[in-house]
Amino acid sequence: MTSSLVPFSTELDHPSPYYLGAEIEPQLPEVLTAFEHDRCFLVTSRPLYERMGRGLAKRLRQAGIALKVVLVGDGEREKSWRSLRQLGEALIAGGATKDSLVLALGGGALGNLVGLAAALLYRGVRFVEIPTTLMALTDSTLSNKQAINGRRGKNLFGSYHAPVLIWGDVAYARSEPDRQRRAGVVEGIKNLLITGRGRAEAIELLNAWRAGDLLGLTRRLIDSKLPILRADPTERGSAIILEYGHTFGHAIEWLAAGRLFHGEAISIGMCLAAQLSNALGCASDRFVAEHEELLGERLGTPTQLPAEIAPRQLLETMHRDNKRSRKGLGYLLLRSWGEFVNPEGDRQTKVEDELVLKLLSQQAAPTTPRVKSVR
Ligand SMILES: NC(=O)c1ccc[n+]([C@@H]2O[C@H](COP(=O)([O-])OP(=O)(O)OC[C@H]3O[C@@H](n4cnc5c(N)ncnc54)[C@H](O)[C@@H]3O)[C@@H](O)[C@H]2O)c1
Repeated sequence: MTSSLVPFSTELDHPSPYYLGAEIEPQLPEVLTAFEHDRCFLVTSRPLYERMGRGLAKRLRQAGIALKVVLVGDGEREKSWRSLRQLGEALIAGGATKDSLVLALGGGALGNLVGLAAALLYRGVRFVEIPTTLMALTDSTLSNKQAINGRRGKNLFGSYHAPVLIWGDVAYARSEPDRQRRAGVVEGIKNLLITGRGRAEAIELLNAWRAGDLLGLTRRLIDSKLPILRADPTERGSAIILEYGHTFGHAIEWLAAGRLFHGEAISIGMCLAAQLSNALGCASDRFVAEHEELLGERLGTPTQLPAEIAPRQLLETMHRDNKRSRKGLGYLLLRSWGEFVNPEGDRQTKVEDELVLKLLSQQAAPTTPRVKSVR
């Protein structure tokens, strides 16, 4: 189904034009040509190249754009030094100059890898995000954070590098597997929770997802995040609230080693944060139940710690996480929609490890469903 092109600006410190629509690929050559360049490098994975990259490359070449294709591995494991070095060297070997444009066609992981390579190459070349997943359309492309993982955790090495444009053609994301797309909705629910926009809006978001209205869903998810980013584009101040559920979630994602999608790990992390707030006497039972209802029942993402993740192991991983500061491990906790337990400064609340361990041990009941491998 073809829709009209909807251009708008992210209005951030380094605003990136975001072009959103469905089946808008025919208009990309003209937009790219407006950015003076010597050649373009289309970086994508083999499966995505077969699925949509080949057609895109043909269209760009037919429009007179000098284009080279660079294939890389895809997914979380490829956010590595090895992949970063290989990509950087491939771009140089392919003749990339400071005047080249690097196009990242893929999900959030590929976008992060290509974005970091573009940030480092010649101290920064221009790059274009062409997201192919709901998560990338609505989340990773908006924040200019590019990163690879380290041996001890996620996103340990990175940089801020804004794309010169984001080309959000939801048609590319139609082939995304259901479970993965579902995981891409989680951060939107989180954004509504942290800004206090209310349960009714969360239900509307979930209805758009259930109806398969990918364009409408994408717009809603973008709108849930952009106002927070506009107020704090580098996410070092007020936008820290975007990390709700991530203290637990990032560590769970890391320990699940590919068996959980990012959004699934964050879904569990948000439920744990609500339970922790409840255990501290801050959040009501009802607020905890709302997390379970919106995420577990309505969206269908996991809400319980996988049985194979031991509570102590999770706590240790959290302590090592990249969000660790000299102040030590803290938690973003809500009392209710939009109301943080600590409304000041970094909004973090300190909690004794023993209490967290007790909560996690209660979660790690033998009946907890095991996560199935997704790779
Ligand atoms: N920079 C940020 O602020 C930020 C924000 C959110 C997430 N992220 C990062 O994004 C990553 C997760 O991104 P993701 O959810 O897009 O997953 P992903 O990029 O890991 O992709 C998952 C799999 O989906 C495949 N895929 C991609 N598009 C597809 C399509 N259209 N059809 C079929 N398969 C397709 C990929 O090839 C890959 O195998 C994580 O690394 C996370 O850390 C970054």
